[in-house]
Amino acid sequence: MKTGIIGAGSMGTGIAQLAAFHGHKVVIFDRSPEAVQRSKNSLLKILNRMAEKGKISDADAKAIFGRIHFVEKTASFSDCELVIEAIIEDEGIKKDLFRELESVVSDKCILATNTSSLSVSSLASACKNPGRFIGLHFFNPPFLMKLVEVIPALQTDEEVTRISTSWIEGMGHLPVTAKDTPGFIVNRIARPFYGEALRILDEGLADAATIDWAMTEIGGFRMGPFTLMDYIGNDVNYTVTETVYNAFFQDPRYKPSFTQQRLAMAGFLGRKSGRGYYDYRNGAQNPEPDKSREKGEYIFNRILTMLINEAADALHFNVANRDDIDTAMKYGVNYPKGLLNWADEIGIATCVKNMDELTDLYREDRYRCSPMLRNMAAENKTFYGD
Ligand SMILES: NC(=O)c1ccc[n+]([C@@H]2O[C@H](COP(=O)([O-])OP(=O)(O)OC[C@H]3O[C@@H](n4cnc5c(N)ncnc54)[C@H](O)[C@@H]3O)[C@@H](O)[C@H]2O)c1
Repeated sequence: MKTGIIGAGSMGTGIAQLAAFHGHKVVIFDRSPEAVQRSKNSLLKILNRMAEKGKISDADAKAIFGRIHFVEKTASFSDCELVIEAIIEDEGIKKDLFRELESVVSDKCILATNTSSLSVSSLASACKNPGRFIGLHFFNPPFLMKLVEVIPALQTDEEVTRISTSWIEGMGHLPVTAKDTPGFIVNRIARPFYGEALRILDEGLADAATIDWAMTEIGGFRMGPFTLMDYIGNDVNYTVTETVYNAFFQDPRYKPSFTQQRLAMAGFLGRKSGRGYYDYRNGAQNPEPDKSREKGEYIFNRILTMLINEAADALHFNVANRDDIDTAMKYGVNYPKGLLNWADEIGIATCVKNMDELTDLYREDRYRCSPMLRNMAAENKTFYGD
């Protein structure tokens, strides 16, 4: 499929690499000549490294790069079958771009957005033919992260969803279908991983090192929440949380933390600024975790219960089906297990009991148990049972 990409930043460049690797011809445009140069350099570096490691031959590396054409005008997208937008996260700028694109591409061309936080149905409304519009949300880096959330807008034609899904499968990636709701699957369900960890920190129940230790050593997560937030950047992670919170009409479940907001404001962004929850400057000493098993179990169970509750609620509201929810969290954020599968292992009644204990203690809407879990516990059902 001749694939057009707009925006040669980290996502656009990665999607170009993936599509060209799988034999698709790629046309890529960015309004910034510096971004184009950076993208070319990064593609050459990645492909050369793959060839050095023996993952592909030198000839393959050349052929892949040869399939990617950097162009100077959107008019060059006229014969594309699919165009994916990966530009700045700004609704007005994205809508203007789609209006312009529609005047250039053929009637059959599918238009896709890689937005993380905007409504796909709202972006589709900018098009004369919104039926051709879809959300294809890749994860960073797109070549290595196999998950792609496919988000049909309210207006999207079924055929467009089918073609887009098989394009992703054809490249060995894993499409999951998500309803056009804030955060789609992953950015919604993952919120308590950060939010509940911050709440535990804010209440002084444990420090960042202890919470990270509990989640990695007891929970089996690859990275603890604070190490991960420092890696993502506290500015970026805070903005996602705030966006999801506001998009859910200020549902207290997604309420941001002052601690993270202040870190972002202070410029303590994490690894990229040398300081965040941890100190990354040369010679810095970071605190050791308190490895008390009882405390660690409490932290892990509390955060995991909140994650499971969020996953169950996403299922309850038909954001995605059971299998797609579990696949999304395993492949979008590398969770050790699917959360609904994990709920079955712990026992649904235990999950309800854990949520009710938090509600009894805090009396906050933040800790309300999903009706799906409560109904299942009452009926003795499991997610993966008959
Ligand atoms: N970075 C991530 O982890 C990630 C993950 C999933 C989705 N996304 C989404 O993907 C999109 C791009 O993110 P990114 O991290 O690659 O950003 P980026 O800043 O690395 O790249 C964006 C590029 O778009 C170009 N651009 C901006 N406006 C343009 C326009 N009108 N026409 C042409 N080019 C334009 C910029 O010059 C820049 O090179 C955003 O919508 C973001 O929310 C990002």
